Amino acid sequence: MILRWFIFFLLIIGFNWYSSLAVKTITKHSWIYYAYLLVNLLIILNFTAQISLTNFSTYFFYSLGLVLVSIVFQISVIVFLFMEDFIRFPVWIYRIFGNGIDNSLSYMPSRRLFISQLSILLASIPASALFLGMLKGKYNYKVINHQLSFKRLPKDFNGFKIVHISDFHCGSFDNKEKLSYGIDLINKQKPDIILFTGDMVNNIADEILPWKELISSIDAPHGKYAVLGNHDYGDYKAWDSDDDKVNNLKKLIDLQKEMGFTVLKNAVEKIKINQSTIDLIGVENWGSGFKQKGDLDKALLNTNSNDFKILMSHDPTHWKEKVLTHNQHIDLTLSGHTHGMQFGIEIPGIIKWSPAKYRYKHWAGIYQELGQIINVNRGFGFLAYPGRVGIYPEITLITLKDKESLKSV
Ligand SMILES: [Fe+2]
Repeated sequence: MILRWFIFFLLIIGFNWYSSLAVKTITKHSWIYYAYLLVNLLIILNFTAQISLTNFSTYFFYSLGLVLVSIVFQISVIVFLFMEDFIRFPVWIYRIFGNGIDNSLSYMPSRRLFISQLSILLASIPASALFLGMLKGKYNYKVINHQLSFKRLPKDFNGFKIVHISDFHCGSFDNKEKLSYGIDLINKQKPDIILFTGDMVNNIADEILPWKELISSIDAPHGKYAVLGNHDYGDYKAWDSDDDKVNNLKKLIDLQKEMGFTVLKNAVEKIKINQSTIDLIGVENWGSGFKQKGDLDKALLNTNSNDFKILMSHDPTHWKEKVLTHNQHIDLTLSGHTHGMQFGIEIPGIIKWSPAKYRYKHWAGIYQELGQIINVNRGFGFLAYPGRVGIYPEITLITLKDKESLKSV
């Protein structure tokens, strides 16, 4: 552990020193150079102090965000300086061989002002994007509309509106006004039903308390339903006893019930309009590389294979590995979990990219395979990095359409 910290600090000091060479080149004022070194050092020391407090407060996540901004800036500068040094060093060696090793340091070509200026200018772009993502991006709510047609949807459900939300991560919220706006935006969609696909908290049930009243105000005539995500089980926190952990999960479910959610744990609920019903299935978390408590077979026990089915399952890898290959046809699956890594570029119809795509095949939006559809929500909250760049908090509005409308498309 000590060795790991030693290597970490060595790297940090190395990055800081190497990137500072660009600052040294572009300014004659030595105080600017020292101020650069000092600011980066303070950012790291502040973060280390926050880690030692081990209370994962909002302030901790901001200090982590600043470390990200600082390191992304430094690495971007270093890429340019390294390319320059790739040329400088062979020239230096060549001159030493040509002129002898006396005064060898004076043979080193000096840094180009232009390269250092360019490196700082270009490094400022991703660093400022990450900084702005913390100030604005994380509350930049987007309503994403999907009209989805299904062959076996009962006619009575034609036009049924689902608001799909996911990944609140209550412990990360830090602005009541902005959150109120997001909650209001959910209600403004006038959904028939609200489906929340897990990760209500980061670690502990009490994270809900400051926002309980606000979240309770989410409302729809056919009710609101929730499933558990990997973060809801308290697996990422050290507990004093096993009982504490069990009680925390119980409290989390109780609080969700008090807020008006029906929590589906490997269970099914029949949603009824007139004489028609559809199956709303909710499973516990099942993720590749994560907790696998989701039991689709158990949840499907009291269902009729001919009925239209919506499945709520936190992790989209469940769809790929268990749902698609299941003998029962699940018409629509709703998931979250990926957050689209809170970073990427999306221009509809032109580009859709995030590092999340290298970890998850289905990482954001609608996918269709074997006649079944999944919507992967990008998440309503944020985790770890307290910001979002390019991949914004999402409220999905899904309108179900029956086979008649399918014909008319
Ligand atoms: Fe999450």
